[in-house]
Amino acid sequence: MAGRNFCMVLDCGCGHAATSIYLALNYRVNVVGITLSPEQAIEAKRLVRLAKVEKRVEVKCMNIFEPNLASEVFDGVVSIEAFSTMGEVHKLLETLSGLIQSGGRLVISDMFVRGKTKVKDAIDLYWKSDVFTLPELLSAAQTGSFDIVKVVDQTANKAPFWGLSAAHSRLRLADDKIAKKERSRLMASVNAQLNMKKACIKRDVCYYDVVLEKH
Ligand SMILES: C[S@@+](CC[C@H](N)C(=O)[O-])C[C@H]1O[C@@H](n2cnc3c(N)ncnc32)[C@H](O)[C@@H]1O
Repeated sequence: MAGRNFCMVLDCGCGHAATSIYLALNYRVNVVGITLSPEQAIEAKRLVRLAKVEKRVEVKCMNIFEPNLASEVFDGVVSIEAFSTMGEVHKLLETLSGLIQSGGRLVISDMFVRGKTKVKDAIDLYWKSDVFTLPELLSAAQTGSFDIVKVVDQTANKAPFWGLSAAHSRLRLADDKIAKKERSRLMASVNAQLNMKKACIKRDVCYYDVVLEKH
């Protein structure tokens, strides 16, 4: 990758590489973005080329728990709306700790649950995950090799997103040409989106930005 004197950042769970592209366009960094989805990786690579940052952003279709990143050490890792559904928190932090150099930061922006609630069951079913609480993350970080630098509650900023998502789904439902299968998918989406909004208001689901530093 170009500019080896630039910082190396891992975008862990890059989706369509929006964060990777943003970082490459705005900071002196090279980015490796990883996703589990081959389709996402293809689209992410297309968007990376479109943004003309292909020399600075490499997209890989791989699992963070696979060892084929082990030879790389990153100055920092970002994980946006991907971290809390990725797997067991201790294992995840241990894996990432092995990839970050000492003094490097892990920046997470994600949802956390309050505990065992109906909405946690629904999230876990949807994401095939076991979403954790913020205290679980922070305690795992401290017993692992991280210091807590910053925790910012973003729940109040995030709740309106779910209302907007539901409104968008409803708008699409207003189109009577929509196929029956797509209609029932959208109706399920509206329910799920409104439940997420309610869960944010009740704080059964919270969103936090968390910055950890490897010691
Ligand atoms: C909800 S998307 C978020 C994408 C992106 N960060 C964003 O904010 O738009 C979650 C991403 O995490 C990735 N992911 C989930 N588990 C993963 C794992 N074990 N290893 C690598 N990527 C993973 C998914 O493939 C997907 O790209």
